[in-house]
Amino acid sequence: MSEANDAAKVAGASGSGHPLRLRALSHTYRTERGATHAVGPIDLEVAPGEFLSLLGPSGCGKTTLLQILAGFVHPSDGSVLLGDQPVTAPAADRGVVFQQSSALLPWRSVRQNVELGLQLAGANKAARRTRADAELDRVGLTDFADRPVYELSGGMQQRVQIARVLANDPELLLMDEPFGALDAMTREHLQGELRHLWRTTGRTMVLITHSVEEAVALGSRVLVMSPRPGRIVFDEPSPFANSDRPLSVMLDDPDFHEECRRVRAAIEH
Ligand SMILES: Nc1ncnc2c1ncn2[C@@H]1O[C@H](COP(=O)(O)OP(=O)(O)O)[C@@H](O)[C@H]1O
Ligand SMILES: [Mg+2]
Repeated sequence: MSEANDAAKVAGASGSGHPLRLRALSHTYRTERGATHAVGPIDLEVAPGEFLSLLGPSGCGKTTLLQILAGFVHPSDGSVLLGDQPVTAPAADRGVVFQQSSALLPWRSVRQNVELGLQLAGANKAARRTRADAELDRVGLTDFADRPVYELSGGMQQRVQIARVLANDPELLLMDEPFGALDAMTREHLQGELRHLWRTTGRTMVLITHSVEEAVALGSRVLVMSPRPGRIVFDEPSPFANSDRPLSVMLDDPDFHEECRRVRAAIEH
């Protein structure tokens, strides 16, 4: 696909899905050892097609927030709406990519893993295969479709996770440090793929990351959370999501540096 086409997709990205709305969202874990106010209150509006990067100190509630958006955790206060539908349980319209590939079935083939969600949704064999192969092509894994997952590298396994989620055609893609466990070269390659994916699919994306550079380079909007209980203390658009320069090249850009410095300051204060 040409870059001009990609740019057109960016312009047309908004409007294809539903807005995501968080209202006075807050969560407290209650265990035998007591209560932990993990996150919130958070009020947030996300337009369809936005790419949110979410940063914050360890333990501030980022994963909790993602799990609430996914529907795995029911918030103790407030609400999440996707369009006018309250988010109360996991659903195929919200796909989750985890840091570890333990969500995959290691002994099953790459294609079988990608087909899993479609199988659960009741798609027939031919439709599953067509869909899975299209997504494997998108993430560059066509040649590995018949290999068992355990034979693949960490970066390839993350691509399998992404393909599996995309096969369900979710309108919201939720990623919790998806590249955190990868080496620097693989990470940079997948960052480029993720940016391309965002531009060509127009999906709304939420990316949790530890890397300020990754957040600023990929996100169309960068959010920083305070220490626990996590609240939004920084929320600004980032112009770099529309750049075609790889992250390693951006690192030489003084404007990029300045933006990262501001975001880092927000995390530290
Ligand atoms: N299942 C759970 N039960 C009890 N406390 C939890 C649970 N999951 C997370 N927490 C606590 O909630 C807080 C936020 O955790 P988490 O959302 O994982 O933060 P982050 O992803 O930003 O590191 C932490 O204090 C953590 O110990
Ligand atoms: Mg986490």
